[in-house]
Amino acid sequence: MKRKQRKLNRIIPLLLSVGAVCSATAAQAACEYSLTSSWPGGYQATVKLTNDGSTDISSWEFGVAFPDATTITNAYSGDISGSGPYTISNSAWNGTIKAGESLSVTLMGAPAGSAATTPELSGDLCSGSTIPGDDNTAPDAKVTVSATKGEAPLEVSFDASASTDPEGDALTYSWNFGDGSTGTGVSPSHTYTKAGTFTAKVTVSDGKLEDTASVTITVTDGSSTGGSEITRVDNPFAGATWYVNPEWAAKAKADGGSAIAGQNTFVWMDRIAAIEGTDSAMGLKAHLDNALAQGADLFTVVIYDLPNRDCRARASNGELTIADGGMDRYKSEYIDPIAAILADPAYKDIRIVTLIELDSLPNLVTNIDVPKCKEAAGEGGYKEGITYALNAFSPLKNVYSYIDAAHSGWLGWDSNFDPAVNLISEVVTGTDASWDSIAGFITNTANYTPTVEPYLQEPYKNVGSQQVRSATFYEWNPYFDEKSYAQEFRKKMIAKGAPSTIGMLIDTSRNGWGGADRPSSVSTSSDLDTYVDESRIDRRLHRGNWCNQPGGIGYKPYANPYPGIDAFVWAKPPGESDGISESDYQQDPDDPAKQYDSMCDPDSMNSEPHTTATGAMDNAPHAGRWFSAGFKVLLDNAYPSLDAATGKPE
Ligand code: BGC
Repeated sequence: MKRKQRKLNRIIPLLLSVGAVCSATAAQAACEYSLTSSWPGGYQATVKLTNDGSTDISSWEFGVAFPDATTITNAYSGDISGSGPYTISNSAWNGTIKAGESLSVTLMGAPAGSAATTPELSGDLCSGSTIPGDDNTAPDAKVTVSATKGEAPLEVSFDASASTDPEGDALTYSWNFGDGSTGTGVSPSHTYTKAGTFTAKVTVSDGKLEDTASVTITVTDGSSTGGSEITRVDNPFAGATWYVNPEWAAKAKADGGSAIAGQNTFVWMDRIAAIEGTDSAMGLKAHLDNALAQGADLFTVVIYDLPNRDCRARASNGELTIADGGMDRYKSEYIDPIAAILADPAYKDIRIVTLIELDSLPNLVTNIDVPKCKEAAGEGGYKEGITYALNAFSPLKNVYSYIDAAHSGWLGWDSNFDPAVNLISEVVTGTDASWDSIAGFITNTANYTPTVEPYLQEPYKNVGSQQVRSATFYEWNPYFDEKSYAQEFRKKMIAKGAPSTIGMLIDTSRNGWGGADRPSSVSTSSDLDTYVDESRIDRRLHRGNWCNQPGGIGYKPYANPYPGIDAFVWAKPPGESDGISESDYQQDPDDPAKQYDSMCDPDSMNSEPHTTATGAMDNAPHAGRWFSAGFKVLLDNAYPSLDAATGKPE
């Protein structure tokens, strides 16, 4: 059967001379379906709705009928109903399509067979816009490469654009690079990180029929040259010139933060599109080029796009899911392109610090009862993704990876601490380079737990004949602050076989807890809860509160603050929201998977336990967006003073 996308002439309602309006049901819009990517077990497509009439459309829906059992599991900028055929209708916020304007709906799902088929679009809005045709012949696949030989890491650009289809049908391309990773698109790049001979194969499909073409790539061991002439230092932060993200600095400056605008903050690669960058945000290469221009030799980046991301919460849900083939996309469209950029010899003198996937492994320790986390604990889940990322980065000798270790208020209990150390060390030792694939671990990323609780240094001391750690606020957890937790975490990892060069980072961007309510001495009460509440600098209502807390800017980024701690860092750029506060919200167009989480709503109770409020600041935007009012609170509550020359602790 031939599939052709052809537009029929649609009947345009005419004002007839007799004064009647033609009421024939007609397509009101040109509806164009196009497959944007496909991978084993999944596809993504867009339907572009163009209102080519002269009146505005105020609400819309259209039917989608596939010729087979292809499913639609997610729609962005549209709501799904039905189960094949499906109906896609406007979301609450995008019912209007002005005359002459268009909007696009993204559909994702799983093809019934090996390749995604093209559906028929129906309904008053679209009928007749796209129809399936009748006869078809297979395309002819062709591939060329930028190199067939070279030393690891070897970046190869593939090109299948010489492929043709006798009917001129739109073609999709899926790639198997022969080293366990896959890709999509007409001309992907892939970096081979290991020596070997690989057969790379492209499958070209016209939606019905396929053809393949292959090429052999020989990769030799690059250990005597290139990136590995560089020897890793023990602590990449020591003695370095830290990069300043100009985009963050400009926002901080504009909102009264001149005193901190020159500090390093991490750049977040929080979705595939962030790698290339957009009109409003620089991509990874642009940042690295800018680092060279600044004369910086330390660049810090967060790797944050695992499938089923943020499995326990909702505010930072990501674009990939395990069920939709997200692991393949994570490898080929996210980690591979990042590794290829980091491997560029132009950046070999920059120490590149990567923070690997915060919250992921800790969620597998404590939240396995949540279905999305349980799924993330299995095949194609977090462990596989992190292993892949570390294997891609560890051959790059100027890259220093740190794995997320949550924070004391999450993993500090004995019942969580050792299982976390076991799980994380297992993942690390399962990588190609074992312990050499990481420089260490980071605690408190995007959290608010104090670096030090100056007046509560003895968790096992008795007050009113009870241990301090048994106070309501600490719930028997003996780790009150990040310094004690991070140092113990490191010790436990060394006991697991980590080298003594392993170092810890603490995110101090928002854990300063200064301001009027900060205690200045230890309490004299003999009632334990009063004693703890009057002594702690952590002013949260509950230690589990993580969203937009009125903390304060903490220690400035600083190398070697304490034994075993490589640096204080600002992983979460202060001023960027943790999540939207309103339940009745509009989707973030760049990041449509992000949702409302009641932990970000000041009118909600903490989800667990249900006895305290969330303490979140109100009127906050989506996670990652600039939250001006929140930033000002962080400045007001800074501790130590913003004028402190460095982050050297007292
Ligand atoms: C968001 C990311 C953002 C990051 C830094 C996370 O909570 O999900 O999109 O880049 O915070 O602000």
